[in-house]
Amino acid sequence: MSCTVVVGGFFGDEGKGKIISHLASAGPSPPSVVVRGGAGPNAGHTIHGADGKIYKVRMLPSGFLNRDASVMIGPGVVVDPGVLLDEVERFGAGGRAFVDGACGVIDSGHRGADSAGDLRERIGSTGSGTGPANASRAMRTLRLARDEGSLSGLVRDVPEAVNGALDGGEGVLVEGTQGTFLSLWHGTYPFVTSKDVTASAVCADVGIGPRRVDDVVVVFKSYVTRVGTGPLRGELGAGEAAARGWAEFGTVTGRPRRAAEFDFGLARRAVMLNSATQVAVTKLDVRFPGCAGATSYSDLTGEADAFVRGVEERLGVPATLLGTGPGAGDVIDRREG
Ligand code: IMP
Ligand code: MG
Repeated sequence: MSCTVVVGGFFGDEGKGKIISHLASAGPSPPSVVVRGGAGPNAGHTIHGADGKIYKVRMLPSGFLNRDASVMIGPGVVVDPGVLLDEVERFGAGGRAFVDGACGVIDSGHRGADSAGDLRERIGSTGSGTGPANASRAMRTLRLARDEGSLSGLVRDVPEAVNGALDGGEGVLVEGTQGTFLSLWHGTYPFVTSKDVTASAVCADVGIGPRRVDDVVVVFKSYVTRVGTGPLRGELGAGEAAARGWAEFGTVTGRPRRAAEFDFGLARRAVMLNSATQVAVTKLDVRFPGCAGATSYSDLTGEADAFVRGVEERLGVPATLLGTGPGAGDVIDRREG
């Protein structure tokens, strides 16, 4: 692995956290730096450790379980100091977790503006303050991490560190948040998050140029979910979603997620917008219970094999990573080498 970017292909909650955690630790040359782009603490990733513990992170990069890696947040991300410092401490990332001095800082005013009124009601925002903080940044009034005392021990030049690692031949894993169709530019506007979250934007967030990227992994779930308002083609009724086992609840807000069939039209567009070199398909076991816990492709059921082959044929990209359960080891990894 030299420089790999991971982003969501639908509306967030595709299971990126699990895939990133796997990529951060597995294979012959795990990355020495895991760096997070994306929006802010509106994201929620659930990660099951090899120890069986369940971690929920909103700010810390999802690759933090690789204790040999530094975890960093790029200047394009808005940071909630309380949330970040709590996660760094609780999840044992002290001394190897860094934020760029130019990260924007979310304060209680942003959280208040996000949890009451228009953004919450019309867009179904997460109430995390991310959108109002990005609005303040566009107005050039947002305070930055370099001026936030509580973050002083974590501040570092993240683009310098990331590009330096690549120059030294080390692996860098770049993680995005949300999903392609929550992008401010490419999503279902106005029912979107407050910035672009496609692979190009995530690279800009952490300060790497397009020529540095070797692989772009777009993560799809084997069905589609969406929290908050906005269009969802083929949306199932709550009863049907529950009957299929596709009823889920948001990590950040606890709201029920709406559900629909895998959408090949959206998936093809996500592959195009992100220039995917590979895709991941998660929660195969939810669709095809006979696949639960499989770690080798040959253990997939015929139905699941046909589904994965259909995805590869219709998207024109190899499906290299397949999620077969919530556990850290429930992954089929078909990457070469
Ligand atoms: P905001 O990003 O909090 O402003 O919310 C805008 C829209 O994006 C709402 O529909 C949210 O539910 C959705 N959203 C934001 N972040 C995530 C995420 O990480 N996963 C899923 N949906 C998200
Ligand atoms: Mg999530």
